Amino acid sequence: MSRDYRFPDRFLWGAATSAYQIEGSTRADGAGPSIWDRFSHTPGNIANGDTGDIATDHYHRFKADVDLMAQVGLTSYRFSIAWARILPEGTGRVNAAGLAFYDKLIDALLAKNIAPMVTLYHWDLPEALDARGGWLNRDIANWFAEYADICFRAFDDRVPRWVTLNEPWVITHEGYGIGTHAPGRRNFREVPIVTHNLLRAHGSAVQAYRANGKHEIGLVVNLEPKYPASDRPDDIAASARADAYMNRQYLDPVFLGHYPRELVDAFRDAWPEFPASDWPLIQTPFDFLGVNYYSRNVVRDAPRDLPLRAARVRQEGNQHTEMDWEVFPAALTRVLVWVKERYGNRPIYIAENGAAFDDPPHTSGAIVNDPLRVWYLREHLRAAHDAIAQGVDLRGYYAWSLLDNFEWAFGYSKRFGIVHVDFDTLERTLKSSAQFYAEVIRSHGAVLAGA
Ligand code: FCB
Repeated sequence: MSRDYRFPDRFLWGAATSAYQIEGSTRADGAGPSIWDRFSHTPGNIANGDTGDIATDHYHRFKADVDLMAQVGLTSYRFSIAWARILPEGTGRVNAAGLAFYDKLIDALLAKNIAPMVTLYHWDLPEALDARGGWLNRDIANWFAEYADICFRAFDDRVPRWVTLNEPWVITHEGYGIGTHAPGRRNFREVPIVTHNLLRAHGSAVQAYRANGKHEIGLVVNLEPKYPASDRPDDIAASARADAYMNRQYLDPVFLGHYPRELVDAFRDAWPEFPASDWPLIQTPFDFLGVNYYSRNVVRDAPRDLPLRAARVRQEGNQHTEMDWEVFPAALTRVLVWVKERYGNRPIYIAENGAAFDDPPHTSGAIVNDPLRVWYLREHLRAAHDAIAQGVDLRGYYAWSLLDNFEWAFGYSKRFGIVHVDFDTLERTLKSSAQFYAEVIRSHGAVLAGA
């Protein structure tokens, strides 16, 4: 007998994007510059010299994009607000035209019965705040709460779910540790400071929300289960360090009230003593957790690989995406069950899941055939269903991404969309993955039982 893959009736079927990756027109209508404007315009940072200046031109095409969402049957859409559109200097003066853009987008979504999930920070810090120290400055918790509160007041009447931060680990590791993302700093001693201020900012925004907000607010982290490369104790210990760094660095503080021991040990004297009085703020209760899942990681001990002394072991036999990420759906189930067991059975959304594959050349009018992405989505949706069967309170799934877009340091060279974008003409074309996802949504998952 084949397995029943139907999802709960109220399960949300979504797709996700972020402002800098799709909007374009980054300086239109009074918007201020962000660190991604500067970073992408600095030669050598982005593949092919790409920038987000035009991206998918969603800023002008959002209505047509909402129509595409409706065509796929999405019941929710996760997007982010560009802080510098709302506050061009990061704090103080509010730019009404910036608010107006998101106001129109939210109304367009609601007109199609698509519930917005709004991320406040998906990496595009106003440049003016970076000039004041950015995430290294403790004041950023107040700056972020000020910005968040403006958004809550403008949109909470129509936004049922808010997200404070997207993937704090990527912000610290890539933005401040290895410098592959904006602001492009390369100093691991800054990582703990940025981590701590991100957590304080998250808590401050949640507290601001509690003052007036009527719906739900959560945090989105990227989780990548770590598997030791062998049974040797040094590989097991390395895998635990990698897990502490990537998977527990944010969740242990918000849910358990401390940083993981392995992490503090690995950073040695670079991990400062933080004021004890910060902890109640960091532990402010919030409503749901968003999990971004793409891959797992097999880890070995690597004494020279500082600060973690851990390295990835590529799994040669398995399929990898164009990002060189191993496709391993079972780890999605595993990580969701792990969250439930370690932190309690909280409402969870899979806030991003998807894959970059080289799509075939696209001919105008014809659908883009992307069998590998269909396969990736099918197996991960099945894995998500397995987690529900194991008691995880999973409430929704967001495919990354609605559109092919600006994939950060990789520019336009990696395509994650279920909708193809021709970056010369900006024409949108559904891929077969969008059609497949539409069938999943229409059947509430029942079609996942098929081959
Ligand atoms: C995540 C990011 C998202 C996108 C995907 C591929 O880390 O949140 O913006 O880049 O990876």
